Amino acid sequence: MKRVAILISGGGSNMLALVRDMVGDHPCRPVLVASNDPKAGGLARAAAMGIATAAVDHRLYGRDRAGFEAALLEPILAAAPDILCLAGFMRVLTPDFVARFEGRMLNIHPSLLPKYPGLHTHARAIAAGDSEAGCSVHEVTAALDDGPLLGRAVVPILPGDTPDDLAARVLVQEHKLYPAVLRRYGRGERGLLDLTG
Ligand code: GRF
Repeated sequence: MKRVAILISGGGSNMLALVRDMVGDHPCRPVLVASNDPKAGGLARAAAMGIATAAVDHRLYGRDRAGFEAALLEPILAAAPDILCLAGFMRVLTPDFVARFEGRMLNIHPSLLPKYPGLHTHARAIAAGDSEAGCSVHEVTAALDDGPLLGRAVVPILPGDTPDDLAARVLVQEHKLYPAVLRRYGRGERGLLDLTG
């Protein structure tokens, strides 16, 4: 059984989808939900499901990214995770932190990587006149929103879509894609899962 720690910054809808799927013959189980924001709504949702939680307020560390990460590492290492899942985690991690979990850290990003790494992905896809958008699950490497692709799901961009319309359509796919990829990842599978269509 693989131990999974999940890092969140907000409501944690992706964390919920992952946790709800980690039952039965799933090769993984959640052991910690941690956040850079003590007020992240996902922390209460995780605690309500009996999952250990931790929070380190990154604002207390100013520009000292290493100091923040050292504090965040404590509860993470105490939980002894085999796999780390970033799920709506909005802090850029240093190469040192990533190196500790390289090859066992996943992230979900709301675009069809390698297109649109970074923020405001839906507005950028709409502005570019793209006909489709989607989400990607990848292994985390030191380069932001880079790393080997493990899953993708494509959705159409419809005439008149606002970024919020598109975000809502993509989020539905995120909640299907991330759990499906983690199930395979937990079994050592590394191929690309395409949930489109
Ligand atoms: C969502 O915009 C999602 O696309 C991205 O992180 C944001 C918040 O996700 N992965 P969550 O609801 O906190 O999981």
